[in-house]
Amino acid sequence: MIYSRICGTGSYLPEKVVTNKDLEKIMDTDDQWIRERTGIRERRIVGEGESTTTLAEQACRNALEAAAVDPSEIDLLVMGTTTPDLVFPSSACLIQKKLGLPDCGAMDVNAACSGFIYALSVADKFIRCGDARKALVCGSETLSSIVNWTKRETAVLFGDGAGAVVLEASDEPGILSTHIHANGNHADLLSTEVGVSRGFAGIEENDGRPELLMKGNEVFKVAVRTLGRIVDETLEANNMDKSELDWLIPHQANLRIIVATARKLEMSMDQVVISVDRHGNTSSASVPLALDEAVRDGRVKRGDMLLLEAFGGGFTWGSALIKY
Ligand code: ACO
Repeated sequence: MIYSRICGTGSYLPEKVVTNKDLEKIMDTDDQWIRERTGIRERRIVGEGESTTTLAEQACRNALEAAAVDPSEIDLLVMGTTTPDLVFPSSACLIQKKLGLPDCGAMDVNAACSGFIYALSVADKFIRCGDARKALVCGSETLSSIVNWTKRETAVLFGDGAGAVVLEASDEPGILSTHIHANGNHADLLSTEVGVSRGFAGIEENDGRPELLMKGNEVFKVAVRTLGRIVDETLEANNMDKSELDWLIPHQANLRIIVATARKLEMSMDQVVISVDRHGNTSSASVPLALDEAVRDGRVKRGDMLLLEAFGGGFTWGSALIKY
């Protein structure tokens, strides 16, 4: 039996920090509201010359270095993103060139905030079936490019960043299971409403860019319910009790959603990796960013049992159970 295992993690954040106090100066919001309703204190935003693929390149380089894997050894690149540099070539192709990877398969996966879990699931399947030995999986976003910076209900929530892992084939797990789902019936609760084929009518309201629109309150309720279901599904599929989990590494959209999932799992908040306070919601980058942080600061150790989960626009949602 072939499994895939994570042999290195990496991440990258833009240097520019935007605090809640900074946002108070440009819109009708306040630091206390943002902290109490979301847990966010600050977020990173890209500067001149930075984009989704420049962040991804650094995160991938850091993951390759941690794994001691040369780019020439990679035979699959899967990239979760909702904010690609271009319509095409895919961000994966642009990163493939930047990293000097061989002519391996390289693809983007668009599953909004679940993008990294989806990408991980795809790469895990390629390794399990023997079509790839080493894969690079990345989540990278510049949500700041589709946020309307005059609207407090969305602008305060998001940030930019990238995270990556290197997977390799192994006789031992590794990734025990991944679970991905979607339900397009809720598309209208979280979307951009404009695009290449439908057209870009209305973008002048957001400085000529598509605008992320979200009915936050309604998304919140579905997210809490759905994440409760996916953690049950994941544990049941592995015949595992919640007490066997060492770490919850959740998508970082809102601290209150994270606390609800931790409570359901009867996990102490000391067993939950939190980065939303410093990163905001970085969509498909949030889970690998949090994972890398916890690996590098020594909280997550080899042999620990990790539950990764995410929920996002689509709706999409997913999870991965990993023996690190
Ligand atoms: N500053 C101050 N006040 C604000 C702000 C702000 N930034 N934003 C909203 N308010 C006000 C509202 O106007 C409202 O005022 P009112 O009561 O006078 O009408 C009040 O605060 C409450 O607004 P709600 O929207 O009900 O606030 P809520 O507690 O639901 O928090 C939030 C909003 C943070 C967006 C929350 O609903 C949430 O986190 N939703 C889920 C987000 C998520 O998980 N998305 C999925 C991933 S994203 C992706 O896939 C790209």
